[in-house]
Amino acid sequence: MKRLAVFASGNGSNFQSITDAIKSGTLEAEICLVVCDREDAYVLERAKLENINLFSFSPKNYANKAEFETEILEKLRQHDVDFIILAGYMRLIGPTLLQKYSQRIVNIHPSLLPSFPGKDAIGQAFDAGVKETGVTVHYVDDGMDTGPIIAQKTVPILDGDTKDILQKRIQETEHDMYPSVLQQLCQKKLT
Ligand code: GAR
Repeated sequence: MKRLAVFASGNGSNFQSITDAIKSGTLEAEICLVVCDREDAYVLERAKLENINLFSFSPKNYANKAEFETEILEKLRQHDVDFIILAGYMRLIGPTLLQKYSQRIVNIHPSLLPSFPGKDAIGQAFDAGVKETGVTVHYVDDGMDTGPIIAQKTVPILDGDTKDILQKRIQETEHDMYPSVLQQLCQKKLT
């Protein structure tokens, strides 16, 4: 069974959908660690309720990214983590983690990449007035939402939608899509 570390910065609804899929047996994997870079994030409560090991930190307490990523790396080693699963982790991954977890870091992004990378992708698509947007799951490289795409799903933007309605539709797609893409990934042999 593959061992996952979920990285998150906020609400953690994707963490929850992955956890629920594991509990229901549709995702055959284990979350052995949650990593969070915000001490007020709701995902911390969720991880505690699910009894999952937690590493939370404040980047401001470290001299630089290499310093806190070195500490994260040590936690990943302790928990024998196979894959890093980014689920709303709002920070670029640096070389320290990228080198050790090459091809083993996956991200979910709420747009059809390469359209609307970066922050507030849902707002960007909504403001652009496009008729459809979507969700992308991709491997992480050193760019901002630029790594090789694993899967994409289209989400329509309908007349009368507000940004909130669109966000809800996109998140429903994410909660369905991420666990099933991870299941496929976890069935592959590690090279
Ligand atoms: C998700 O919509 C995810 O796609 C997005 O943050 C949200 C986190 O929600 N990620 C990005 O925008 C990454 N560039 P959650 O905390 O409820 O899972």
